[in-house]
Amino acid sequence: MDWGMKNRLSRLIQRDGRAMFLPIDHGYFQGPTTRLEEPGKTIAPLIDYVDGIMLTRGVLRNCVDPAINKPIILRVSGGTSMARRDELDQEGIITSVKEAVRLNASAVSMSVFVGAPGEHQTLLNLARLVDECEEYGIPVMAVTAVGAELEKRDARYLALASRIAAEIGARVVKTYYCEEGFEKVVKGCPVPIVIAGGPKVDSELEVFRWVYDALQKGAIGVNLGRNIWQHDHPVAMAKAIRAIIHENATPEESQQIFNAAKSESKV
Ligand code: 5RP
Repeated sequence: MDWGMKNRLSRLIQRDGRAMFLPIDHGYFQGPTTRLEEPGKTIAPLIDYVDGIMLTRGVLRNCVDPAINKPIILRVSGGTSMARRDELDQEGIITSVKEAVRLNASAVSMSVFVGAPGEHQTLLNLARLVDECEEYGIPVMAVTAVGAELEKRDARYLALASRIAAEIGARVVKTYYCEEGFEKVVKGCPVPIVIAGGPKVDSELEVFRWVYDALQKGAIGVNLGRNIWQHDHPVAMAKAIRAIIHENATPEESQQIFNAAKSESKV
C-alpha cells in the first residue's frame, strides 16, 4: 500500500483500529430527509464526536465549512430517487475522482446492489472506480445497498455482497448488522467492515446493542446516520456510540452515558 492510501485510511480508521463515521448523504436519493433538511445545522453539534463524515459534493460545498478538520468520505454514486423506488439500484457514478481530489476527500463511497437488476452495472461501477482511485491513493468504501428491500439484510446476503465488494477492490465495506451470523459476514470479508443503522428504531439501547455486538464480532465501527441525527438527542447518541467504539463501553454503560448526556445537553 502506498503512502497516500495509508495516510488517507489512517485519517479515517483511528489508532485503535476503530472508526465512527457519520453519513449525511441520504438526500442524494431521498431529498430533504427528516432532520437533514439543513445538513450544516444537523452536523454542527455532532462533528466533534465522529471520525469522518460521508456526504455528497453538493452538501459538502454548500453546507460544510472548508476549515473543518474532519476527513471526508465523498459519496460518488447516485442518479436515482425515491420517486422511482423500484429503480433505486440503477445507480451510476455521478462525481469524478478528479473532483474528489479537488475536494480533498479522504475516501470515496458508492453503492452496489447485489441481487438486484442493477447488480452487474453497479459492480462494474465499483471496479472502474477502484481502478481509478487506486491510481491516486484514494480508498473506496463500498456500500452494500438494499434499496427499499430492507428484509434482505440476513447474514447470507450480507456476506455475499460484502465479499464481492472486497474482491473487486473496496478498501472498506459498509454493510448492515444482523443478529444471526454476523461473524460470518466479517470472517468472509478480507477488508474492514463498518455497519449502517438503517431507518431509525424506537429504542436507543437496541442501537447500542447492535453496535456493541457488531464490534465483538469483528466490525471496526459504524457508518451510522439516522439513528443518531433523527434522534431527539443526537449528541447524547453520538457520545454513547463513540464510547462503545473507542472505549469498549457495554450497551448498558452506553445507556448511562446517553442518560447523563441527555440531561446535561439541549440537543
Ligand atoms: C445510504 C447510505 C447511508 O449512508 C447509510 O445507509 C448509513 O445511514 P443509516 O445509518 O441512516 O442507514 O449509504 O445508501
